[in-house]
Amino acid sequence: MPQENLPANIMPFYLYLETYGCQMNVLDSEMVVASLRSRDYQLVDDPLAADAILINTCSIREHAEEKVYSVLGKLRRLKQEHPEKVIGVLGCMAQKDQQRIFERAPSVDLIVGPGQLSQTGVLIDRVRNGEGRQMALSLGRRDGPAESIRRSHETFDPLRDPQMRPTPFQAYLRIQIGCDKFCTYCVVPMTRGPEQGRSPAEILAEARVLADQGCREITLLGQTVNSYRYREGDRTTTLADLLALIHEIEGIERLKFVTNYPKDMTVPLLQTVRDLPKCARYLHVPLQSGSNRILQRMKRGYTVEEYREMMHRIVEWLPDAAVSSDFIVGFSGETDQDFEGSVQMIQECRFKNSFIFKYSQRPGTKAAQLLPDDVPDQVKRLRNQRLLALQDAISQEDNQQFVGRDVEVLVEGPSKAAEKSGVEGPVLQLTGRTPCDRIVVFDGTRRLVGQLVHVAIDDGTTHTLIGHVVTGQVGPELFTLDPAAETIVRT
Ligand code: 5AD
Ligand code: SF4
Repeated sequence: MPQENLPANIMPFYLYLETYGCQMNVLDSEMVVASLRSRDYQLVDDPLAADAILINTCSIREHAEEKVYSVLGKLRRLKQEHPEKVIGVLGCMAQKDQQRIFERAPSVDLIVGPGQLSQTGVLIDRVRNGEGRQMALSLGRRDGPAESIRRSHETFDPLRDPQMRPTPFQAYLRIQIGCDKFCTYCVVPMTRGPEQGRSPAEILAEARVLADQGCREITLLGQTVNSYRYREGDRTTTLADLLALIHEIEGIERLKFVTNYPKDMTVPLLQTVRDLPKCARYLHVPLQSGSNRILQRMKRGYTVEEYREMMHRIVEWLPDAAVSSDFIVGFSGETDQDFEGSVQMIQECRFKNSFIFKYSQRPGTKAAQLLPDDVPDQVKRLRNQRLLALQDAISQEDNQQFVGRDVEVLVEGPSKAAEKSGVEGPVLQLTGRTPCDRIVVFDGTRRLVGQLVHVAIDDGTTHTLIGHVVTGQVGPELFTLDPAAETIVRT
């Protein structure tokens, strides 16, 4: 068991945290762990060894919730054998299901919504002190004055702890909380509350801390990140302004931002991305459906024609950018003809990749109240498979076009295959991403992790480019990887 420099009289407290869902949740988990570490908690990777077991949850689709309830069901035995262990449900499910979680999963001691995560440590202490079950939630969207609702959803972004990130040189940075778009299928406006931008001063301060900690890539996060606006007096800061400010920070080499809302993909933003070399040439802009009738039922606020115009703007200003999308299949009332619209848009837009989801009716949404979930599951499944197959074929064709080209790669670490094999030689398979967010695997040494290297692409599959290192920079030194010697050669 790790004992990190603790005075002999303080018993460490062991924490296990499992995360489901989106990047926002990954970031929230990082924040929770960082704050608990400052209270002498130590992270362990086995729930059996933990004093507190926390599950950070997602409500976006029913399937995500079922997975969490199944995990909680498995923890029931453990709780019976070790009643002193504290079990907590954090995040969107906590906010959505509230008290009902205690009823469905009686071993749970703690329920904390995404806007109340700063309370987690205090609430665990209360459970341990015998004060019974604890719950901290934000206000519902109609449960009080607008300002109180907003404040109850303010996420907490305390000092960053590089040890908590998947890699020390990549970090998420929250610039926006919540969402006001109210797409009819979506729970996020309820679970994460009203849209609010964080102040540019706070964001910049955090970006500087990240750079000082050795972070080279920052991904700005918001549900509709390109709608970001922050007003101070008569000054309004936009996402484009933020990108320009963060771009100045020494040490930051790459800047990304997700997720975008089609209608706010403005020319000034595209020009900014074009003019700032550190900005990734990658835009995730969910279309959701290629049928105007369905887009209207989803209340997405744009038409297929408007999305198409946005694609033309992107091609005009950022011809080398990759665009990816999300689609929902089998939304209420989706006919074969509506679905063909989605097929056509994938063909036309040639997305780098698309995330395709079967519609899942979510309690509390407008769609659940007003629109029947009337597409049979079997039809949803077939439509899902068809879009995936089409997207895969396009992704593979586009990846093939990279063969013979050199790309710049930020090296993230050993590839999945290298990690699985567990073999630790001087050379191992590494993975990283291009500026247009394509995954590249190639052979290299651990010293390359966190560096920008040039990789020549030899092959392209659906999800991956495969190549070999041409040159790179480790500190001030240039090197080439000599494939014969399997070592780095200084040049
Ligand atoms: N059912 C299926 N997919 C959904 N998404 C959001 N809500 C639902 C739902 N109720 C998808 C959207 C969104 C992505 C994050 O999840 O495509 O862009
Ligand atoms: Fe959900 Fe729509 Fe907001 Fe995205 S824009 S988080 S899909 S409500």
